[in-house]
Amino acid sequence: MPQRIAIVGAGTIGPDIGYYLKSAIPDLTLVLVDVAPAALERAVARIEGYVEKGLARRKLTEQQAVQVRRNLVTTQDYAAMAECDWVLEAATENLELKRKIFRDIEAVVRPDALITSNTSSLPASRLFGDLTHKQRTTVTHFFAPAFRNPAVEVVDWEHGDPEVLDYLRWLFCTTGKVPLVTADALCFMLDRVFDNWCNEAGHLLDRASASEVDSVAADYVHAGPFFVLNLARGNPIIVETNTLQMEEGAHYRPAPIFGSVDVWKTTAPGERVTVTPDTETAVRDRLLGILFSQTVDILDRDIGSPADLNLGCRLALGFKQGPLDLMRSLGDAEVGRILERFARERPGMPTAARDLAAYRECRRVVLVDGLDGVKVLTIRRPQALNALDDEVTDELLGVIRQFEHDPAVRGFVVVGYGPRAFCAGADIGRFPEMLGSLNDCVQYSRDCSRLLVHLDRMTKPVVAALNGMALGGGVELALRCRGIVATRDAWLQFPEVTLGIAPGIGGMVVPYRRWPQAASVFHDMLRLGRKLDATRAHALGVIDALVDPQDDLIASAVSRVGELADTASSAADLDGPVEIPAPPELDDGAFGKRPLSREVIGIIDRAVAAAAKADGLEAALEIGYAAFGATACTEAAREGVTAFLEKRRPDFARTG
Ligand code: COA
Repeated sequence: MPQRIAIVGAGTIGPDIGYYLKSAIPDLTLVLVDVAPAALERAVARIEGYVEKGLARRKLTEQQAVQVRRNLVTTQDYAAMAECDWVLEAATENLELKRKIFRDIEAVVRPDALITSNTSSLPASRLFGDLTHKQRTTVTHFFAPAFRNPAVEVVDWEHGDPEVLDYLRWLFCTTGKVPLVTADALCFMLDRVFDNWCNEAGHLLDRASASEVDSVAADYVHAGPFFVLNLARGNPIIVETNTLQMEEGAHYRPAPIFGSVDVWKTTAPGERVTVTPDTETAVRDRLLGILFSQTVDILDRDIGSPADLNLGCRLALGFKQGPLDLMRSLGDAEVGRILERFARERPGMPTAARDLAAYRECRRVVLVDGLDGVKVLTIRRPQALNALDDEVTDELLGVIRQFEHDPAVRGFVVVGYGPRAFCAGADIGRFPEMLGSLNDCVQYSRDCSRLLVHLDRMTKPVVAALNGMALGGGVELALRCRGIVATRDAWLQFPEVTLGIAPGIGGMVVPYRRWPQAASVFHDMLRLGRKLDATRAHALGVIDALVDPQDDLIASAVSRVGELADTASSAADLDGPVEIPAPPELDDGAFGKRPLSREVIGIIDRAVAAAAKADGLEAALEIGYAAFGATACTEAAREGVTAFLEKRRPDFARTG
């Protein structure tokens, strides 16, 4: 971790980045540098405002607040950067000014100090071309608000050292950001989408008003282009960045109206004006046209990966669906029609060079890396703490099937993206549509099991690397892997009972069959939602190895794959019935402050007992699927799931 970071430029984004860094990196000294003392004062006040808000909303502890306030240095003197490990430039978007700043920075910092720019549009080759030690430079482009928006573009450029790129990716990921790697193109990846989306909205003003455009856009984004432009005071930025992109052709010309309007008269998110059907179609086709045109161009030119583009549009730009998801849901015929119309109306704009399927079909949520003959599969759904949905299940299964018979592959590691979660369980967003239907729910569990049943029967080992919390389906996934390694601060929990449901894909079956000696611990987890921390799980034999948080979890998981490579699959061990103690009676005191549903606990108890006695794993699993279905048809389930989605505490006293 860096010990001392300087940010040059104390405007808006500089202090926002500073607040993120200070809250994410303990004991960091942050040096804010600006030519204007007033800007520095405002920056410190801004950071203090965030601290106070964080404390009031309990997002920040007192101790974190002390950490953020401590070691915050402001200066006009570049000499204060001498000992910095990283200098991040966040000054005005002006090439000559930035180049001068970088020369001045290089004159004072160590040759190995990182130097990065927060530019949204200017390529690294232009910014750093005349520096002596170019290899430690690149672009790290944040999105507003930088302390909360997880996306950061990290630019892979000609003279940048690949190790610097890897280090920055690791650093951002470890501190809760989602780094997205882009090529050194004008405006990189996401601003090509955003600027052209806004610019197209400007060009559309000859057909519709700003509020009409924003109303149509509301189907695709949380806030329409004109609303966002008002928020960011972005009109001059569109003129600047689209003028820059005109190096690639006159079709990127900024809409002239951006030069003469200060604030747009438009509707706020959630409000819509009525739009006639003709206007609506014309606006929709053009907005989707520019989105798809940029998408195919970015992918054809390898500016970013499909998965990063798809995720980045959601995280950074507030799209409701990634462009590739949108292409998939609209279908090739409709996307083809939109692109053809767009090509007619906006000649020169990029168009698809390949079959549309080649763009939309890609792995979206599982990243695949290789290490010492082991495939490392990372579940990346940072917006839902890596919760499991069909896409995650299918992609994990797809990669495993692709490589399990490859002699060059020794086995697999499954890990969650980021510092917090291995996997937060099944995606609760899908539950409301099936609650109440016994058949749907039982079938849902059976379907969700397809990956886990495959794991049971695999010859090559799969090791779960628990990098944080493993909840519900995340625990069920880990327990079906041949081995588990975890960081010391990881933990496992079945929170289902707090939602009024039961863990349906093996949670009531497999732990008892694999570790019957820990039955009473599993009883408490299933019936009361108790957490099992990694140290205790290790002592119980559930986790094979523990790793200190600063050590390399993946390396440990890979070496565990090596140890397990010659052992047999665990499916056979799980087939026989097991003897387990009956769970204790629960008095009201067992629940603490929050009563749970006795009806749901009763269903869990009966399923656990019946599954333990069942002959054969498959029969035992079926008991679990059926019990999940039974809980999902209770009033408690409706209350628990609704309460989670409404972000309130469930009231099981009312439902029983
Ligand atoms: N399914 C869908 N979304 C999930 C999820 C899940 N299992 N777990 C977390 N998320 C989402 C949250 O809804 C939230 O989305 P939002 O930012 O759009 O509101 C995001 O992930 C971050 O989670 P949040 O709840 O804001 O973080 P937190 O630190 O306050 O709480 C948890 C973390 C894990 C305690 C809480 O998210 C939780 O209870 N999740 C449900 C876990 C669960 O019951 N899993 C078993 C399902 S059967």
